[in-house]
Amino acid sequence: MAGVFLLRALNDGFAMPNKRKKIAIIGGDGIGPEVIREAKLLLDIYRDKAGLPLDLWELDLGADKFLRDGTTFPKEIQVAIQRECSAVLLGALGDPRVPNLEHAAAILFGMRFGYDLYSNIRPVTALADRLVPLTGRKAKDVNFVVFRENTEGIYAGMGGQFKRGTPDEVAINEDINTRKGVERIIRAAFEYARTHNRKRLTMADKSNAMRHAHELWLRVFNEVRAQYPDIESRHVYVDALCLYIIQDPSQFDVIVTNNLFGDIVTDLGAALQGGLGMAASANVHASDPTRVALFEPVHGSAPPLAGKDIANPFASLLTVGMLLAHIGYPEEETRIERCVTQALDEGMCTVDVGGKLGTRAAAAWVRDRVAESLNLTKT
Ligand code: NAD
Ligand code: IPM
Ligand code: MN
Repeated sequence: MAGVFLLRALNDGFAMPNKRKKIAIIGGDGIGPEVIREAKLLLDIYRDKAGLPLDLWELDLGADKFLRDGTTFPKEIQVAIQRECSAVLLGALGDPRVPNLEHAAAILFGMRFGYDLYSNIRPVTALADRLVPLTGRKAKDVNFVVFRENTEGIYAGMGGQFKRGTPDEVAINEDINTRKGVERIIRAAFEYARTHNRKRLTMADKSNAMRHAHELWLRVFNEVRAQYPDIESRHVYVDALCLYIIQDPSQFDVIVTNNLFGDIVTDLGAALQGGLGMAASANVHASDPTRVALFEPVHGSAPPLAGKDIANPFASLLTVGMLLAHIGYPEEETRIERCVTQALDEGMCTVDVGGKLGTRAAAAWVRDRVAESLNLTKT
């Protein structure tokens, strides 16, 4: 199995499959509500037919709500999620009617930063040979996991504008890198490699240009790697990483990098998976898996696709798999991935991945396979 995510060694004590788990669901903007509707129907099967003890809590947050009454991410919702939920399933945020992305930043960063979800785990896994756009490469060659630092870097939002709108204006975004932040994401990536039998780990930075911030990354990496002699580890500059990923993706098992580079590298990775409609992700506090975790497809709200029943729902279904693995059902991640793979093999998929079906029909086909494989009646 390719995309397996669960931090097993860390989660064993937490899983407790019989304990009720509350999951907050936020469709968001653009295609978000369309793909999350399909993902929720999959969770409904697990709750209503397979008997998993799930409580699903749908939240009306996003651009529509913001434009109606100014709501972004209310403090009481943020706190209630943190107190009551095991996981959040999020579609996407971003709407052309809100050009400064005020609500999107409040909700997305309100969870990533607010819950200190420092590991953004993004499997780059191709599920069908025909989805890999590189000459001579097959699906088996595209199978690595990116650990993206998720709480600092350039995303910290420190900086400002001075003399805005004048010929002398200055705009600054500070790149924040803390010893604690750098060490914990590098360690999480090594732990993941060790517990998932991934033999090679690559740390990517730009320490040749960012001589302060990324010298810290390189130094901490060299310290931590000494504690994992069982993992073959190497450092590469991020520009060369992009080259190597395209030249031969099969050389990578686990990649760890900072927030911004991780964002960019995982869209590059998505291109090797068949596009953003295939890329799933998790945001977790890897050293305390009992904290609420956030699960989202890597893609955004894709405004030109919205409302047309053409968005690929598979990234969201695969994201449900990561979520279920995280809360104690790792075999369901395997099952969902297998059913999505079967859909691709049989052409039961959306146009972006070579099929003819709409969002709803493609997702329903996968759900039927999941239900069959669980020995349940059709949806
Ligand atoms: P995008 O991911 O929405 O789209 C990029 C490309 O991928 C487009 O060609 C789009 O058609 C395609 N695509 C994306 N999802 C797809 C799917 N499920 N099926 C088929 N094709 C798919 O990125 P963008 O256009 O740069 O951004 C649009 C908005 O989304 C912006 O407001 C951006 O800030 C936001 N965004 C949000 C998130 C998030 O909420 N996590 C992630 C990325 C972008
Ligand atoms: C992602 C997105 C976000 C990010 C945007 C919407 C801020 O691109 O989740 O990959 O850069 O993290
Ligand atoms: Mn992105």
